[in-house]
Amino acid sequence: MTEIIRDKAALRARVTAWKRAGEVIGVVPTMGALHEGHLSLAQAARAGADRVIVTIFVNPRQFNNPSDLENYPRTEHQDAEKLAPFGVDVIYVPGPSEIYPDGFATSVHVEGLTEILCGAFRPGHFDGVTTVVPKLFLQTGADKAWFGEKDYQQLQVVRRMAADLDIPVEVIGCPTVREPDGLALSSRNLLLPADARAKAPALGHVMQGMAEALAQGGTMAELVAPAEAALAGAGFDKVEYLELRAADGLALLDRLDRPARLLAAAWIGGVRLIDNIAVG
Ligand code: PAJ
Repeated sequence: MTEIIRDKAALRARVTAWKRAGEVIGVVPTMGALHEGHLSLAQAARAGADRVIVTIFVNPRQFNNPSDLENYPRTEHQDAEKLAPFGVDVIYVPGPSEIYPDGFATSVHVEGLTEILCGAFRPGHFDGVTTVVPKLFLQTGADKAWFGEKDYQQLQVVRRMAADLDIPVEVIGCPTVREPDGLALSSRNLLLPADARAKAPALGHVMQGMAEALAQGGTMAELVAPAEAALAGAGFDKVEYLELRAADGLALLDRLDRPARLLAAAWIGGVRLIDNIAVG
């Protein structure tokens, strides 16, 4: 089984030795409850770095809802078992005081990119992400970091933060891994009641239909209302956003006039799902 390290001093000692040997260090930051999506990142990291650290930390600062934090699945033992075949060097599972010691008073805020999409519905969420991620980068001494396109806005925000703060980490995005029925893998899928789980793939299917219409010259002005009606008909309770945005920089678009991404967040069975796909 892969070694688990829980304190940053021990991690630092390990990383310092690797660096001295000139090894390239890769990190895959996660909140655990690992699934094939996370494992695809571990696999990419294994192929792209000499040393791989997977971090597991359920970051309280990025939860805007206390019951979401409380209900977040915690499955460390199974996570370690799932990672075993991937040749990860260390699983770093910091205790809360390794990340937020007494007196901790710093918050990192990325302007603009965090005010749209999920940022508009989850106040403080991205500040939590951009406060913990640089700490994980610095504690692990990472040269490269792998993130999923599943959280497309997060990927853009983390890239911006690393560039703005001159953190010398290469941020690499990996494609979304899906269930056979098209549902994007997510730790929150475990919380879906069975009937909602059966209906949930409609989100991706409706988005695929929109992407095809957009590629043929359709506009969001004409496509959004029928898509929301289709999602309501399929059992979704609420659509938070359904938007076409520039793939780079996330400017709001009505039609496909540059490489774009269709992004959505919607509620079903008491669970908030997000998805996004490339368009064009
Ligand atoms: P978490 O939700 O555990 O996700 C960890 C990484 O796995 C993220 O980069 C996410 O985009 C990626 N991921 C999740 N589902 C995926 C899927 N279906 N296919 C491909 N990649 C997938 O994202 C976070 O944790 C946190 O915000 C974190 C970055 C760890 C900071 O706390």
